[in-house]
Amino acid sequence: MTTATPLIIAIDGPAASGKSTLGLRLAHALDYLFFDTGVMYRAVTWLTLERGFDIDDETAITLLAEKTHIDVAPASAPDGRACDVLVEGQDITWETRLPDVDASVSRVSAYRGVRSALSRQQRRIGLRGKVVMVGRDIGTVVLPEADLKIYLDASAEQRAMRRYHEILLRGGAADYSEILSKVIERDRIDSTRDVAPLKAADDAVIIDSDQMDADAVFEKTLALCR
Ligand code: CDP
Repeated sequence: MTTATPLIIAIDGPAASGKSTLGLRLAHALDYLFFDTGVMYRAVTWLTLERGFDIDDETAITLLAEKTHIDVAPASAPDGRACDVLVEGQDITWETRLPDVDASVSRVSAYRGVRSALSRQQRRIGLRGKVVMVGRDIGTVVLPEADLKIYLDASAEQRAMRRYHEILLRGGAADYSEILSKVIERDRIDSTRDVAPLKAADDAVIIDSDQMDADAVFEKTLALCR
């Protein structure tokens, strides 16, 4: 029996637009692998800061991206993580969410060599199929042959509000206006960089989630899959 369910699903969009929430639910529903590519850029950024490298040192950071073994595995602890992030076998899942990483990740991910090292690994995994891959350039660069491409958007205010509530829910302290300005700054860097800028693929289905909750976005996407 043939099935019309897409084998490769790409979800792209700006920071905090709900890509991971949607991707994770979709992957569970279809019994696919969920792969959040942002964690790889975050892992390289964390390592850069951890080793005390200058964030402007493109050559050293590119070498790090090429040489470091980064792995993503199913969540090993019920602490809110979508998956485990491992660098050379060390679990750095929560380190990748530190404010310092947030503040520098877009600089690191704009480096051409970093992108080509990480995109190559992402593409190899994606081509195996039965995957929901989430990022900024999956439908445009990493897997342009994806069977279904979603571009998930929302206003910067709405996205900052969601991130604000996420932090409060985890018991952290948050400042809404600070989060908003960081979201806007990250969007600016991600969408204006020379290599693989954030944009919707021509054949992507654009979903604006400003007026939709997570359930509605999920149902709409699932309907597109079926
Ligand atoms: O979770 P959030 O949307 O805040 O960010 P993320 O998906 O974890 O991605 C963090 C950063 O990595 C983004 O701001 C991009 O600079 C970069 N990134 C990228 O350039 N390409 C991807 N495919 C995924 C992430």
